[in-house]
Amino acid sequence: MIRIGMIGGSGFDDPDFLSDVKLLKKGTPFGSVSHDLIVGKVSDTEVVILLRHGRGHRIMPSAVNYRANIWALKEFGVTHVIATTACGSLREEIEPGHLVFPDQFIDRTTSRKSTFFEGDQVAHISMAEPFCEKLREILIQTAQEEGVRHHPQGTVVTIEGPRFSTRAESKMFRLWGGDIINMSTVPEAVLAREAGICYAVAAMSTDYDCWHHSEEPVTWEMIAETMSKNVENVKKLFFKAIHRIDFETCGCRNAIDTALV
Ligand code: ADE
Repeated sequence: MIRIGMIGGSGFDDPDFLSDVKLLKKGTPFGSVSHDLIVGKVSDTEVVILLRHGRGHRIMPSAVNYRANIWALKEFGVTHVIATTACGSLREEIEPGHLVFPDQFIDRTTSRKSTFFEGDQVAHISMAEPFCEKLREILIQTAQEEGVRHHPQGTVVTIEGPRFSTRAESKMFRLWGGDIINMSTVPEAVLAREAGICYAVAAMSTDYDCWHHSEEPVTWEMIAETMSKNVENVKKLFFKAIHRIDFETCGCRNAIDTALV
C-alpha cells in the first residue's frame, strides 16, 4: 500500500487545504518528533504532513530530531516522502523563486545523528544515488506541466548552520559543483533510505548565497519573504504530484538489504 508523506516547510503549517484532519502523537525509540503528524486528505488521497521545524519554525536545523521524524513516518506506514526546503542558490541561473529537484548532495553537517544503526549494529548503505529517481521524475514532470519554473537536477550542499556560509565557503561550494545550499537535506535523505522510504526534495531557491556580489548578505527575513511569495507553487506541485505516485516498489524499499552490514 502507498502512503504519502510530506516533510515541510513554511506554508504548510496551516493544514486548511486538507480535509478530515487529525493530529497523531507519535513516540519513537529516538525521542520526540518535531510535531504531531498531521493526517488528512487531499481529494480522497490520504497524506501525512510533518513540520520539520515544528509549528512556527521553532526548531533549529541542528536540533531537529531527524531520526524520530523518519521513524514516526515509517511506523505510520509512509512509503513515499516529498520533502520541501528553502535553499540558497549557488548558480546565476537558479533565481529566487525557482524550484530545484536535487539528484545529489554534499554533506557538510558536523553534529547530527545520521544513522539508525547503533552499538554493535553497523550498516554501510550505498548513497551513490541519494534520492528516489522515480519520485524525482514525477516532480519534474508535474512541474513541467504546471509551468512552474524549475531545474530538474542539482547538487545540494547541506551545511550545519545555523550560521550562513562565509564568502570563501560559498565560492568553494560552487567550485565543488554545488548548485544549491540548505541546512536540512542531510541526514533526512540518508535516514529515509535506511528506512526504505522513497524520498525526493522540492527545494525552493530563496536567495543567492553570499558568493553573489550583487546581492546583500542573506537574512532569514529575505528567505521568509521569498518563501511566502512562492509557496503556492510548491503546494500546487505537491497536490498534483501525489496523485501520480503509483509505483509501490523501487530500489529504495530494499536498500538496506544490499547494505554492507
Ligand atoms: N536556506 C535558504 N537559504 C540558505 C542559504 N543561503 N544557506 C543555507 N541555507 C539556506
